[in-house]
Amino acid sequence: MRKLMNMKASDIDFYNLGFNFIETKTMFVSDFKDGKWSEGKLVPFGPFEISPGACILNYGQGIFEGMKALRAKTGEIVLFRPHENGKRLNDSADRMLLPNYDVDKFVDNVKQVVKANKDYVPPYDSGGALYIRPILIGNGPILGVAPANEHKLIIFTVPVGPYFPEGFKAIDLEISKKYTRAAPGGSGYAKTCCNYAPTMKPAKETKAKGFAQIIYLDAAHMEYIDEVGTANFFAIINGKLATPKAVGTILPGITRRSVLEIAEKKLGMEVEERDISYKELFEDSCTEAFCTGTAAIITPIGSVVLEDQKKVWNNGEPGELTKKLYDLLTGIQRLEIKDEFGWIVKVE
Ligand code: PLP
Ligand code: COI
Repeated sequence: MRKLMNMKASDIDFYNLGFNFIETKTMFVSDFKDGKWSEGKLVPFGPFEISPGACILNYGQGIFEGMKALRAKTGEIVLFRPHENGKRLNDSADRMLLPNYDVDKFVDNVKQVVKANKDYVPPYDSGGALYIRPILIGNGPILGVAPANEHKLIIFTVPVGPYFPEGFKAIDLEISKKYTRAAPGGSGYAKTCCNYAPTMKPAKETKAKGFAQIIYLDAAHMEYIDEVGTANFFAIINGKLATPKAVGTILPGITRRSVLEIAEKKLGMEVEERDISYKELFEDSCTEAFCTGTAAIITPIGSVVLEDQKKVWNNGEPGELTKKLYDLLTGIQRLEIKDEFGWIVKVE
């Protein structure tokens, strides 16, 4: 394991990457002290000292982002809508009483880290990416439940393949009536680590039953779909593309927003952000389903199970519209298709 973590870029088999931690060369670090951020700098990737009294260790005052640097068809290294990640970082920071970070500076720093680790960006034809993980944590010590007075922004990178080992193959999901992920008034819309640790046990249990992930229902009624463990949910119902409304309990995904725009503007589809009852999935009017995320990209859903009910779409194969949306999204992301939306930011 240690060997894998320390691999030189030249030793990595970029064509067989999973979604696993691998060290890269350089990370960015900035410290927030006395009410302001330090200029920040690139440093060798590695551990840093932290007080056992740190707010992040005791009370979980921490947030993160997930982005990808891709090798485009043109050979350039590109980012997908990085300013949106910068804005969402600040929305999450507001919820967790962490300091905001200037969005343009954030994007500049992301570019610097990617450039410094460019040997780790997987080749265009591998389908892989350099995953970018910004974390913002309260590292100052505190005893009462209150925000830290010192914070740290770190941006590191990891070369990755597909998040779901199935790749662009349909996954099987379980709808849970046992667990929920977020409740109204909680922190579901923020990308805080506090939302992820409690999903590990449900994910472990469902994987042991052969499912890739859980579909969480809304905590108030246990009826409407919130999202998949680490991705947003979509279904084609009565020919319209429907996704749960981003009302505070789900993460407002950047892929989610992009898929809505692509479906409307490039495929002329009617799109709906609304409450979707899990019961609708079992009806004939629901003809395809998939989930979206930076890591998941667009992952088709082959079947869902709730207790003794099961729905299988297209014999477990990706649906036609799901495939079209996947080709359009990944085509724009890798500059195979003209970026009419102005979403791509070039690193070099
Ligand atoms: N929902 C959750 C809980 C996530 O962790 C993610 C991943 O970031 C998403 C949805 C998808 O968001 P995005 O498309 O911005 O990556
Ligand atoms: C992402 O899609 O970027 C995520 O953050 C999902 C997961 C790996 C937490």
